[in-house]
Amino acid sequence: MTTTTTSTTTSITPPAPSDHADRPAVRIFDTTLRDGEQSPGATLTQPEKLEIARMLESMNVDIIEAGFPIASDGDFESVRAIASEITRSVVCGLARSSPRDIERAGEAVRHAKRGRIHVFCATSKIHREHKLRKGREEIVALSVQSIKQARSYVDDVEFSPEDASRTELDFLEEITQAAIEAGATTINLPDTVGYATPEGYGLIFRHLMQKLPIIKDRGIILSTHCHNDLGMAVANSLAGVMNGARQIECTINGIGERAGNAALEEIVMALRTRSDHYQLRTHIDATRLYPASRMVSSLTGLTVQRNKAIVGQNAFAHESGIHQDGVLKYRETYEIMNPADVGIAKNELVLGKHSGRAALRDRISQLGYTLSDPQLEAIFIEFKKLADKKKEVFDEDVEALVDTQLEAQRETFELLTLQVTAGSNVLPTATLMIRDSSGEVRTDASVGDGPVDAIYSALARLTGIKATLLDFRIRSISRGKEAQGEVTVDLLHGDLKVSGRGLSTDILEAAARAYLAAINRIRSQSFRKREVSQYDAV
Ligand code: KIV
Ligand code: ZN
Repeated sequence: MTTTTTSTTTSITPPAPSDHADRPAVRIFDTTLRDGEQSPGATLTQPEKLEIARMLESMNVDIIEAGFPIASDGDFESVRAIASEITRSVVCGLARSSPRDIERAGEAVRHAKRGRIHVFCATSKIHREHKLRKGREEIVALSVQSIKQARSYVDDVEFSPEDASRTELDFLEEITQAAIEAGATTINLPDTVGYATPEGYGLIFRHLMQKLPIIKDRGIILSTHCHNDLGMAVANSLAGVMNGARQIECTINGIGERAGNAALEEIVMALRTRSDHYQLRTHIDATRLYPASRMVSSLTGLTVQRNKAIVGQNAFAHESGIHQDGVLKYRETYEIMNPADVGIAKNELVLGKHSGRAALRDRISQLGYTLSDPQLEAIFIEFKKLADKKKEVFDEDVEALVDTQLEAQRETFELLTLQVTAGSNVLPTATLMIRDSSGEVRTDASVGDGPVDAIYSALARLTGIKATLLDFRIRSISRGKEAQGEVTVDLLHGDLKVSGRGLSTDILEAAARAYLAAINRIRSQSFRKREVSQYDAV
């Protein structure tokens, strides 16, 4: 048996950061919408990005890196929309050391109450020689010129010597000094390829703090940015702060390029739970960590592994009898954090078919979403249909309804009907009707090796998009035999990998919806294809 025990009497997690107001604060720089969105398959639409940005602001993230404006018109518009709405967090746009990139980033954050431009230029020998084909002097000159240009748009400029952890220390010193003199106010030292060790990474910060008095004199913030290729992103980030860094770049659920970035929730809870050791604080409202994790997972389609620290399904579950016994007697025997402190609700309010608009609206807002009235109305209609099929509607179901509604905004193809014949000794056959964005209704039928194969063959013909099915996953998203089934698929179309998620109380319908969601992502990606990647040399 697995139990999740939550006691209301004792809070073992140390007091909220506000109670440690005397301690130095570490700024949390969230890059879920920029580096995080680079996870294969994790493409987000503008409304989805706005929802995540609102959630990040509500949890008191200091800086939100909203995107890479030069990458595409879609990226530019998303950064601009976030910059126009968010007021409490700094909104940042990324730029390579190129005049056009910086101009675009400057335009995108122009209306931000607090805007930042993040300029980067690769500095390691391997990047200098093989990617940029430039010498040290040229790289310093380019960086200085770029920082000065960025300062003509905003006062808050961050500079990153890309691949800093593999850059010679003397060159890192030289470029950091030059970047600060040119006007950079934050210096971020990325472990771009996740190569660093905590000791080695910490040493870089200590070295720069000792060698460059200008850092202290000008109140410059040093920042960590760690990738997780060796599973050490969080440990490396914490080593950075132990040696003088006062900003940590991270993402919700640790999503990001390859093995991902340092996970925000792990950083925040490590600093908080072990505040006796770190003697630092963050401004983050930890009770938003779990809702934020759920929102990012739901909108990106990237599921959180069960044993993921802080937010995984098993993070507070006790399987072993000895542990269960210990926890029931005195929770601190086996739990170092209280689930409630990270926002895992003890008594979740369950909605049903008699719940009205107000209750649903309230639940959606508790889950961290801020939707428009027409969106809420559309969700309410679907909620009523679901509540008729299922007696109890859990948070997971409500999130799925919101996700489907946000997803609908990128829909090119909409599933209208699905009929499947399957069983033993029959040829699996699927008949589908879909509507495309022009309103045209298309119908087709196909046979297959099984019912899912038949559905996917029919959909490939109906949409005219051929893709390879890389992965198919199915699970129940809430409790009970009437629970909704969630299907997640990964498709490969040319060199584009996309994920799609579908939900329904009928698993074959969920499978069809997942495939169609992925096809819709392929369509929207092809339309707003990124012309530039951050890895392209300038
Ligand atoms: O990993 C990296 O080096 C980056 C930079 C653009 C900061 O993401
Ligand atoms: Zn990165």
